[in-house]
Amino acid sequence: MPNDIPEPQAVYSPITRSAIFIVATLVDGDAHTETVRAWCADVAALVRSVGKRVPSGNLSCVVGFASDAWDRLFGAPRPALLHPFREFGPSERHAPATPGDILLHIRADQMDLCFELATQLVGRLGEAVTVVDEVHGFRYFDQRSMVGFVDGTENPTGREAVDFTMIGDEDPDFAAGSYVLVQKYIHDMKGWNALSVETQERIIGRTKLSDIELDDAVKLTSSHSSLTTLVENGQEVKILRDNMPFGRPGSGEFGTYFIGYARSPDPIETMLENMFVGRPPGNYDRLLDFSRAATGGLFFVPSAPLLEALADREPQPESASAAAPSDTHTSTEPGPDGSLNIGSLKGTAQYE
Ligand code: HEM
Repeated sequence: MPNDIPEPQAVYSPITRSAIFIVATLVDGDAHTETVRAWCADVAALVRSVGKRVPSGNLSCVVGFASDAWDRLFGAPRPALLHPFREFGPSERHAPATPGDILLHIRADQMDLCFELATQLVGRLGEAVTVVDEVHGFRYFDQRSMVGFVDGTENPTGREAVDFTMIGDEDPDFAAGSYVLVQKYIHDMKGWNALSVETQERIIGRTKLSDIELDDAVKLTSSHSSLTTLVENGQEVKILRDNMPFGRPGSGEFGTYFIGYARSPDPIETMLENMFVGRPPGNYDRLLDFSRAATGGLFFVPSAPLLEALADREPQPESASAAAPSDTHTSTEPGPDGSLNIGSLKGTAQYE
C-alpha cells in the first residue's frame, strides 16, 4: 500500500463482540459548531486513552457526518457523493430517512470499553448535540443475526474490503474516506419464528444451521442474498457490513442494526432499492415482511488525518464555496480552543 494514502478511520476493525451506535443532531449556534469541530481533533486521543485500559479489547470508533451537517460544520470542499439519505419503497415496506447529523460507530470486545468511550465522546460534545438514537448491540451465538442466520459471511476481507470501501483517486480531497449507511430494523419475531426453517432459508438464500448458500436451482430471485448481490460489468460489487443484534425481550423489542460501508453510496442504495422496491419491482425481499426499518441515515467517514484536520475548517457560504480553493481542509491555521491536540496525525499518517 503506497505511503501517500492517508490512514482510514477504523472501518476495517476486526469483528467485535459489542458495539454502540449513536446518532446525534447538531444544536444550532456558532459556539456549538465550534465545539463539534474541536471535538474532531480529540476523538483519536480519547479512543487511545480508553482503549489503553484493555489492550486486548479491540476498541475503535468511526465517526461520520451527514450531508447538511457537513456543510454547516465544514463547508467546501465537500465529499463528492454525500447527499441526504434517500427513502425507498411503498408505505407498507418503507425505508425512511430519519434525523441525524453525526454517527458514532463504537466497537470493542467488551461493552464496558464501548460504554466508557461513548460516555467520553458524548460528554465532550455536551450541549452541542442532541443524541436522537443510541443502540447497544451484542454479538449473538455463532455470529448469528437476530433472525437466527449467520450474518456477515459474504463480507469482503483484506485487500478486497479496502478496494470496495476506501475512496481513492475519484475524489482526491477525500481519499481514504468511506460512505456509511445505517438503518435500525425491528423484527416481528413471532411471525418470523412461525415460518418453517425451509421457508426462512428460501427468504435468506442460505441454510440456517450450516450457513451455506442455496443452490442456484432452488435459490429464489427474491432471496435476501440474491437481491443484495450486485454484478456490474461482470464483476461483483460488495459492501462491508457489521450488523449487530440488539433488543429488550421484556419490551418485546428484537432488532438488527444494519451498518454498511462502501466507496460510494450507490451500491448500498441499489441494494435497498432491490430489497424494498424489488428487482424487478414487486420481487422484493420477504425479510421485510418481518422487519421494519425504523431509522435511516447516510454519512461520510473522513480519513483519520482529515477528521483531525476538520477541527481547523471554517465553513464558507455557498456563494464563496464555488470559488474556494479545494485545499481548505489542509489549512495549518491554529484551531479553535478546546482541542486536546494530543498526538497529531497530521503529516505523519501512513497506510500500511
Ligand atoms: C433486516 C436486516 C438485515 C438482516 C437481518 C440481514 C441478514 C443477512 C444475512 C443473514 C445474510 C447472509 C450471510 C452473509 O453473507 O452475511 C445477509 C447477507 C447480505 N446482506 Fe443482509 N441483512 C439485513 C439487511 C441488509 C441491508 C439493509 C443490506 C444492504 C443495503 C444488506 C446487505 C447484505 C449483503 C450485501 C449480503 C451478502 C449477499 C451475498 O453476497 O450473498 N443486508 N444479510
